[in-house]
Amino acid sequence: MRLLFVNASQVVTCAGPPRGRRGVEMRDAGILNNVAVAVEGERIVAVGPVNDLDRAMPGSERIDCRGCVVIPGLVDSHTHSVFGRPRYEEQEMRAAGQGYMDIAARGGGIHASVRDVRARDEEDLFALAHGRLLRIASHGTTTLEVKSGYGLTTEDELKLLRVIARLSEALPLRLIPTWLGAHEIPLEHRKSESGRNSYIDLLLGEMLPAIAAAKLARFADVFCEPGVFTVAETRLILNAARGAGLATKLHADELEPSGGAELAAEIGATSADHLAAISRNGISALVASGTVATLLPGTLFFLGRQRQAPARALIDSGAVVALATDFNPGTSPTVNFPLILTLGVSQLGMSVAEVLIASTVNGAAALALAGDTGQLAPGFSADLALFEAEDARELPYWYGDRRCRGSWVRGKPCHPCDL
Ligand code: NIG
Ligand code: FE
Repeated sequence: MRLLFVNASQVVTCAGPPRGRRGVEMRDAGILNNVAVAVEGERIVAVGPVNDLDRAMPGSERIDCRGCVVIPGLVDSHTHSVFGRPRYEEQEMRAAGQGYMDIAARGGGIHASVRDVRARDEEDLFALAHGRLLRIASHGTTTLEVKSGYGLTTEDELKLLRVIARLSEALPLRLIPTWLGAHEIPLEHRKSESGRNSYIDLLLGEMLPAIAAAKLARFADVFCEPGVFTVAETRLILNAARGAGLATKLHADELEPSGGAELAAEIGATSADHLAAISRNGISALVASGTVATLLPGTLFFLGRQRQAPARALIDSGAVVALATDFNPGTSPTVNFPLILTLGVSQLGMSVAEVLIASTVNGAAALALAGDTGQLAPGFSADLALFEAEDARELPYWYGDRRCRGSWVRGKPCHPCDL
C-alpha cells in the first residue's frame, strides 16, 4: 500500500538524528512548505516536492491535506490510562484547601483508585480504557505509554497489564506497557514500618518476577517522593527491575526535591518524570546523562499549583526535554495532548518548535523508540497526524480545541480522517 500525503499547508518533519534532542537542537522542528510525504507499507519513504514523489511512487493513494498541517503522530510517554471511576470529588476538595498528599493520607488519591480497580474485572477495565484511548487518539496521539499502578497486589497488577496488552491488540495505537507496582505503599501495608518493608519484599520477591515472566511490561516505574518511596527504596526496586530485563523510569521530584533526578541519572533511567521540584544538582545530573526529562505541566495546572518545572533551565543547560499528559484520574484527567503543548508554551516558556520536538522525537526517546517513531523522515514508522491549521504555531494556539483531522500508525488509519 502506497500513500501520498499532498497539499498540506506545512509539514513538521522533526527530522534529524534518531535520538533525543537536547538544548539548542530543540529549536529546529524541521518545518517545510510545499512538500508531500510518501509512505510505503508501514514506513515513510520520502518527504519532498510532490512532483518528484508522484514520479517515484506511481499508483499511490493520494490523501489531500489541504488546510492542514501534517506532523509526526504525538508520542505521549507518561499515562495512567487504565483506571475505573474518575475522582472528580477530589478537585473540589483541593479547591477548598486540602492538599494532594492530605487527601492520600485519608485514604483518597491513589488509594481510592486502587480500591476501585481491585473490585473490577478485566472486561470492565478494558471497556472503560478502550473508550478513553479512542478519545486520546482523536487528539493526534499515535503512541502512548500506559502504566499499571492501581492494583498493588501481584494479581491486580497482572490484571492491569493484561488489559493494556489486550488494548494494544484491539486498537491501532502503539501502546508501551509500564509496571508501576511501586506507585504507593498500599493501605494494608501502611500500618507499621515492617508492613512497609513487607510490601517492598513483595514487589521484589513476587510481583517483579511474575511480571517479568509474563513479559507484560517494557518499563518499570517508581513514585519516588517523600512519604511514598525513598531514593534508597527506588534504587533497590529499579536495579532489580533492570536485572529482570525491564528498562526504567521514575516519578521524580514532583512535589519536593528529594534527589530523584540525580538517582535517575545515576542508574541510567530512560526518563525522569515530573521534576517540578528538581534541584540545581538534579538539573546538572540530567544534563550530563542520557535520561530524558519528561515534564507534565497539565498535572500542576490541574492541581492548581503555581510552580511549574524549570523547563527553560533544563533546555538552556542542555537536557533532553519531553512533554506528556500524565493522563490519570487524580491529577491530570485530560485526553488532549495538544493542550499540553499550549501549557508548554504559555506556562513553561518553551517555543513552538521546542514543544513540537518535546512531544514527538523526545517523547519517543523517553520510550527508547527514537529510532522508530517521532519524525517524518525516510525509514521511520508511518505515524502521522493531521491538524486543521495553516501554520504549525496554531497547534498550541487554539487551546482546548480538537483540531486533529486524522491520524495513521504504521501506515494504517488510527483516528478516522474527517477532512
Ligand atoms: O503522576 N504522582 C503519582 N502518580 C500520578 C497520580 C496518580 C493519581 O493521583 O491517581 C501522577 O501524577
Ligand atoms: Fe504519573
